[in-house]
Amino acid sequence: MEIKTVGVVGCGLMGSGIVQVCAQAGFKVVVREITDQFLAGGLAKIEKTLAGAVAKGKMAEADKAAVLGRIQGTTKLEDFAGCDLVIEAAIENLDEKKKVFAALDAICPPHALFASNTSSIPIIAIAAATRRPEKFLGLHFFNPVPVMKLVEIIRTIQTGDEAIEAIRVFSDKIGKTSILAKDRAGFVVNLLLIPYLLDAVRALESGLATREDIDTGMTLGCGYPMGPLTLLDFVGLDTTYYITNILFDEFKDSKYAAPPLLKAMVTAGFYGKKSGRGFYDYPAK
Ligand code: CAA
Repeated sequence: MEIKTVGVVGCGLMGSGIVQVCAQAGFKVVVREITDQFLAGGLAKIEKTLAGAVAKGKMAEADKAAVLGRIQGTTKLEDFAGCDLVIEAAIENLDEKKKVFAALDAICPPHALFASNTSSIPIIAIAAATRRPEKFLGLHFFNPVPVMKLVEIIRTIQTGDEAIEAIRVFSDKIGKTSILAKDRAGFVVNLLLIPYLLDAVRALESGLATREDIDTGMTLGCGYPMGPLTLLDFVGLDTTYYITNILFDEFKDSKYAAPPLLKAMVTAGFYGKKSGRGFYDYPAK
């Protein structure tokens, strides 16, 4: 099965990155947001990233125009009728995702593959809202999507071999390296990343070292591009807290228990970079 047109549900932080990499790889992309305002914001983000590449001499102006020309924005799921693959990157809410995919099941052609970018909700629970569970899988991207080279492909107990193979080929085409994981909370990356991030919060909370020294320890000591507290601010403390609670619910293992400091910061609205304050301050530009 050849994928030519990709539908993306959601044009936020992850959705806009997914749209961009698909359009840059030559796919036609239809992207849906719930309001014209959100849609305009997401499309502007893509335009800005591409303009940055042009300014650095990494992309020709004509190529930028061609990439943008392959993107069709909409607020209507009906416009996904010609899609061969739909990637959902909407709000992390099971009922919302089920509603979207149940609607798409009736709109999209029978051969179309459905993928969710969720980092925490069981894929099988979303697939159950459709009549095509053998064509349903997880496709988990990493932030910032245009830069991070990995995608996790998540196979449920019902996903078919053909769907996995088609998504592996698609991942190659958009320039990502894919790894395959079972449909278990955290998949591979968050299962390992979250305890590490939580341990950094515990280290800070216990007074082991300053935030700067914890971060410098891991950037210079281990060669990580960002220290764990900077990475928490980048991913979002609220997002991390949400994923942490799902992992704890699933495994009941104390390594996934949210440290009180993380909970307190989320309660106070210190979500990290996006809210202007997390472990560090981010004054509005
Ligand atoms: N969108 C597009 N491109 C971006 C970008 C963005 N948001 N942020 C940075 N870039 C690009 C820059 O344009 C630059 O491109 P060129 O090399 O072509 O000039 C390149 O990335 C490097 O950027 P910078 O020089 O500005 O900054 P940097 O070298 O410090 O890199 C970083 C920034 C890529 C974010 C790097 O710090 C990094 O890799 N951090 C770790 C990110 C990470 O771990 N992400 C995974 C989070 S976990 C997750 O996403 C999953 C989940 O479920 C929670």
